[in-house]
Amino acid sequence: MKKCQFGVFGNPVSHSLSPAMHSAAFKALGLLDCVYGAYAVEPGNLKQEILKAQADGWTGLNLTLPLKEKIFETGLIIPDGFSEKAGAVNTLHFKDGQIYGYNTDAEGAFRALEQAGCRTDGKKILIIGAGGASKSISLFFSERGNPVKIINRTAEKAQSLAAEIGEKTGNRNVSGGGFESGWNDLKEADAIIQTTELGMGKYEDVSVYDKLPPEEGKTKEEMIQTSLKGGKTVLDVVYNPEETKFLKETKNAADAKTLNGVMMLVYQGALAFEIWTGKKPDVNVMKEAVWEALLTKKEME
Ligand code: ATR
Repeated sequence: MKKCQFGVFGNPVSHSLSPAMHSAAFKALGLLDCVYGAYAVEPGNLKQEILKAQADGWTGLNLTLPLKEKIFETGLIIPDGFSEKAGAVNTLHFKDGQIYGYNTDAEGAFRALEQAGCRTDGKKILIIGAGGASKSISLFFSERGNPVKIINRTAEKAQSLAAEIGEKTGNRNVSGGGFESGWNDLKEADAIIQTTELGMGKYEDVSVYDKLPPEEGKTKEEMIQTSLKGGKTVLDVVYNPEETKFLKETKNAADAKTLNGVMMLVYQGALAFEIWTGKKPDVNVMKEAVWEALLTKKEME
């Protein structure tokens, strides 16, 4: 039987949950000839590794940092409209001698919100952070016509990202700024998406709320409670730890719905899977595989 080869390229890549997630999805659909692995690829070797995969008859690839942006320099791919605007590609499809590029990250975030019961149509979206993840998510919602506000530690980065996205999508309701107006921005938003590194790694004990200006006579909890009134949904793209300090504080102080990044990861993977195979994978199987892989990682730490 001819093997269908898939994989994720990145550096570092050993932490990737994609092999566990996709392998489980292939198995559940009886696609037993499909294999998915993680491969450490240096940016300087990206072009030759992709050409090798193509020559070896691979079907699809995912790219993680820092290759999502680097891929454009190889001149090998035909990006779709969205990934071209986002300037980042996370999915490659080898088909009919061509290499097509897509970005499923942002739609993954969108689907995670919708699956959690958050109808985003016309809703105000607040995006915290102005890096790569923020860019594709802001672009996605801006293209759908949502009012989008981007806030970031470095205000100028949020402002220039908002200007770029507003121009690319023709949406006049995209703005950017610093953290100083953060409490009010939270109040005005319907859905909030946290995309910074706060809450993970060396920032595990820091939440976005710690970075917002304190108000005299009010505790942080009171500020959170007042700013998050009205059943908002809060998504943190971080999934390790399972619940960031930001999500914990949100849950404890307000009646908001909180989501970590697991379902966003699952849906971006499910969308890539559909591009490659034309089949809908079982997202619950993928989610279980992610949880299991995360638990195993925790036990090994
Ligand atoms: P990614 O591709 O994952 O979005 P990135 O492009 O490196 O990552 O962006 C990191 C984001 O985390 C940025 O918004 C960054 O804010 P700055 O633009 O001000 O650097 C944010 N970030 C990182 N460390 C932070 C910290 N200690 N406090 C607040 N924001 C932080």
